[in-house]
Amino acid sequence: MSEPIRFFFQGKTHSVSDASTTQTVLQHLREDLHCTGTKEGCAEGDCGACTVVIGELQDGEVRMKSVNACIQMLPTLDGKALFTVEDLKNQEILHPVQQALVECHGSQCGFCTPGFVMSLWDLYLKHEDSEQIPQRKQIDEALSGNLCRCTGYRPIIEAARRMCELPRQRFDRAALTGALQALQRKASFSYTHDGQSFHAPRTLAELLALRAEKPQAVILAGSTDVGLWVTKQMRELGDVVYLGQVAELKHMASIDGMLEIGAGVSLNDAYGAIAELYPRQLTEMWKRFASLPIRNAGTLGGNVANGSPIGDSMPWLIALGAEVVLNSVHGRRVMPLEKLYIAYQKKDMLAEEIVEAVRVPLPRAQLIFRTYKLAKRFDQDISAVCAAFSATLDGQVVRDVRIAFGGMAATPKRGANAEAALEGQVWDEAHVEAAMALMTQDYAPLSDMRASGEYRMLTAQNLLRRFWLETRADAPLPASAVNAYAHA
Ligand SMILES: Cc1cc2nc3c(=O)[nH]c(=O)nc-3n(C[C@H](O)[C@H](O)[C@H](O)COP(=O)(O)OP(=O)(O)OC[C@H]3O[C@@H](n4cnc5c(N)ncnc54)[C@H](O)[C@@H]3O)c2cc1C
Ligand code: FES
Ligand code: FES
Repeated sequence: MSEPIRFFFQGKTHSVSDASTTQTVLQHLREDLHCTGTKEGCAEGDCGACTVVIGELQDGEVRMKSVNACIQMLPTLDGKALFTVEDLKNQEILHPVQQALVECHGSQCGFCTPGFVMSLWDLYLKHEDSEQIPQRKQIDEALSGNLCRCTGYRPIIEAARRMCELPRQRFDRAALTGALQALQRKASFSYTHDGQSFHAPRTLAELLALRAEKPQAVILAGSTDVGLWVTKQMRELGDVVYLGQVAELKHMASIDGMLEIGAGVSLNDAYGAIAELYPRQLTEMWKRFASLPIRNAGTLGGNVANGSPIGDSMPWLIALGAEVVLNSVHGRRVMPLEKLYIAYQKKDMLAEEIVEAVRVPLPRAQLIFRTYKLAKRFDQDISAVCAAFSATLDGQVVRDVRIAFGGMAATPKRGANAEAALEGQVWDEAHVEAAMALMTQDYAPLSDMRASGEYRMLTAQNLLRRFWLETRADAPLPASAVNAYAHA
């Protein structure tokens, strides 16, 4: 008999032993618990109707974060707390988030409203100890994963400000900390149902041993790719090994001129740390990567391990010269990230290996570096083309030129011919144009629903020109002061 999944829900420990290993949190809420406040819109992390807030212990402190319940699997909740819109109603008066939405007319048909309420509650909790009203950028970020088809966003944005002007309602973190401490397991958690297993090892050694024992098992990190295999492709996953409880994978540390980011670190935390190193170049990419709930759940390790040809992290990681750390019972291997990607969905990884960490080089003198995302929307959109360029400026000459693209080939890929045309040359328009012409030998982009091959090639070439325009000696703004994003 398997151990039950245990999590904190509606003020007490909730145990589940009869759910499938891949049942989503949303399915459990709506179909088993009949908590139908949380809605299903898209079932793929796009619309935010299913937004809930998860509380978990990290370094002894409670961390609260909004996530999409539709793509999170129920067993990943073990040892955590789940908050839904129903948690806000257990008050004699409306919660300030709800009151503000009422006062500002922030709801019409109401289908999206529970999701907005939970995203706003997450923002409210972040402002709990401050008298300040959230700034517009913070509000936009908090709501980046919520779509509304009828109210329009202005009243909801007004509600985000108004909620912090109303008398505060404090959230009892101390009580939640105690409840979560009582839920922590000393040993690894394993859950089986109907012949399928879900394992949540607590140490790296246990994870690697499990990986060796079950090389066919699906590795699960933030579930923002894998969740869709279940909800959209209706795939049976078989055995699942979850990385989210392995403390050793949650580290970030500077080692040998690199920032090492463990594979369990969320995209939001990882991008936050890297954007501190490269604020001008990476802040916009950080904010344009999916939405806040996706970044709260997903990991940089998952982005790299998935290695989608249209993923947003690989181009700039490759352009910066990042390394990937693989680990297995046979030992650790470190390689330049671009070497990981052999062909479409094919990686230089043994069946027993996992991505343990990504190492990002620290800024160096005379580095010129930019990354650009071309997509149809600012928030929550997949790139048609994702570009990254870096080089060292040695006087007027460029060296160590690295050009990398997503959306231009079957893998994230460097442009060897274009790089060769620039290497050791004067950083001027003639050499840039020569490199632009040679990009047709490096890439043969496909046409699909996001863009035609011709559009991709033309914009990719023009992004190289833009990189030069922004970093040339007589650029109108100093290279470090130029905004580093574009959207079509
Ligand atoms: C609505 C939405 C918007 C999105 N927007 C973007 C976007 O703007 N840009 C973008 O690049 N991506 C985007 N994605 C894709 C996704 O969020 C990223 O690829 C994310 O980084 C995946 O990380 P994860 O931790 O959720 O991985 P998971 O879904 O858990 O796993 C992804 C894959 O990697 C494997 N894996 C995970 N971790 C490891 C590891 N440590 N070792 C070995 N294998 C591992 C899994 O087995 C699986 O094959 C979006 C997804 C959704 C649903
Ligand atoms: S139902 Fe649309 S994001 Fe979950
Ligand atoms: S109020 Fe109808 S979708 Fe937002």
